[in-house]
Amino acid sequence: MPLPNINPTTTLAWKKLTKHFQESKDVHLKTLFNSNMDRAKNFTIKWEDFLVDYSKNRITGETMGLLLELAEEVGLKTAIQKCFDGEAINQTEGRAVLHTALRASKEAIIKVDGKNIVPEIYEVKNKIKVFTDAVVSGEKKGYTGKTFTDVVNIGIGGSDLGPAMVVEALKFYKNHLKMHFVSNVDGDHVHEVLKELNPETTLFVVVSKTFTTQETLSNATTIKKWFLKYGSQEDVAKHFAAVSTNTSKISEFGISADNVFPMWDWVGGRFSLWSAVGLSIALSVGFENFDKLLKGANQMDDHFRTADFENNIPIVLALISIWYNNFHEAETEAIIPYAQYLSRFSAYLQQGIMESNGKSVDRKGIRTGYQTGTIIWGEPGTNSQHAFFQLIHQGTKVIPVDFIGYKESLHGDVDHHNKLMANFFAQTEALMNGKTAGEVKKELISKGLSKEEIENLLPFKIFEGNKPTNTILIDKLTPKSLGSLIALYEHKIFVQGVIWNIYSYDQWGVELGKQLATTILKDITNSEIADHDSSTLQLLQNFKN
Ligand code: F6P
Repeated sequence: MPLPNINPTTTLAWKKLTKHFQESKDVHLKTLFNSNMDRAKNFTIKWEDFLVDYSKNRITGETMGLLLELAEEVGLKTAIQKCFDGEAINQTEGRAVLHTALRASKEAIIKVDGKNIVPEIYEVKNKIKVFTDAVVSGEKKGYTGKTFTDVVNIGIGGSDLGPAMVVEALKFYKNHLKMHFVSNVDGDHVHEVLKELNPETTLFVVVSKTFTTQETLSNATTIKKWFLKYGSQEDVAKHFAAVSTNTSKISEFGISADNVFPMWDWVGGRFSLWSAVGLSIALSVGFENFDKLLKGANQMDDHFRTADFENNIPIVLALISIWYNNFHEAETEAIIPYAQYLSRFSAYLQQGIMESNGKSVDRKGIRTGYQTGTIIWGEPGTNSQHAFFQLIHQGTKVIPVDFIGYKESLHGDVDHHNKLMANFFAQTEALMNGKTAGEVKKELISKGLSKEEIENLLPFKIFEGNKPTNTILIDKLTPKSLGSLIALYEHKIFVQGVIWNIYSYDQWGVELGKQLATTILKDITNSEIADHDSSTLQLLQNFKN
């Protein structure tokens, strides 16, 4: 049975939200806080080691009530059930969407085409454990008998961003293995990485769900050629591992079956870090920590599946984001972790969110006529404050921001952590309150400026405030809390896709460029150039000359 197929703009809730927006759009957050002393408490969800304060949003109880009605009206409950039950909700590819199964408990029963997939998942998990333990302990050795010192993950998109983000995020927990990531087809990427490596002590993990991706196959081939300058064809088996659904293609590449880790077509690339795609994560932090990451995600899955909509973190954050995207006409959302370890988090979510919900055709195949996927961007605080926060504070656009921070610092440097978190709290407060003309005047008078100087400076120093933020405050950055955080955003993607009535789990939009690149590669390598528009033709001729 397919997902419910309802144009959200035809629902009663949407109509009520449109009216409510007109009535409430100019109300300042300060007014909302002043009129309700319990606002922070009312708009906060505490769950496990997470505190999610969404009170600094341009919402009222009525807004949230109507958004929740919208979720009910489009059949979100049924959609969640269908997803977790393994129904083929990725209809354009005829597949189930079951990254949640990868972190399910051993006792769970999750069926795809009538077969319980959990035993298979645990078989692969066990293979990951055995392989990882052997590499980390030094039991597994390279072709000259030396233990491994370096690991290179070769993949792109979901086969790179997830593992790279998590390896960086969990650096505090890592072991002696030095991790590298090669993704870009730009040869400079692979050649720079190779410069640092010793073939005798390096393990290469080729990750590609399809094993057909140009970038990954080119990089893997270049690396294999480099390796063969030192080791033999037989030694390849000791130094290369692969993760894919396309296991026959892997054997053509010469990787031994012992080092092949299967995945399944019901795992989308951008949701695959929980599968063997996360092998480099397990290698970097050890299998136990990898398993904790999965457990954290599983806890968030349970919360998402079972909590009431109004206390459900992914649902509430998804609804608020829809409020800005579809009513306030916000174009982008910033995700700002106040944690240097999460420096790749926004880049990772860009694929997760934009590849999933960057769709303009609904589930009936009709142009939506309303906005869908938000543009995601961000960098860690406090660096971002000194880069682009000016525009968030005083620019002309509404940019909802998620602030993610931790109560405890991993290195225990209280002085640094207090400063970091002071900035974290100060920014959301400043974005909300802004600074009025009266406040600016008072400040400038105290600095001894003349009346004329004050009048001249005044308009530039006013902050209108009323800028929306969510604050996600977590006890500590651990494998488990990271798993929950990632899963939170995965479910937010799902909820938004359901409400926008689009298919979140295909990515046809990336195909056209890939196809054209294949044609153009022939134009570049052959003597003749095929027919193109005059601009492309001119550029190709110029490049070839
Ligand atoms: O960018 C398109 C895409 O298909 C992503 O969805 C995927 O994560 C990436 O390419 C890599 O694909 P593969 O893992 O099959 O090499």
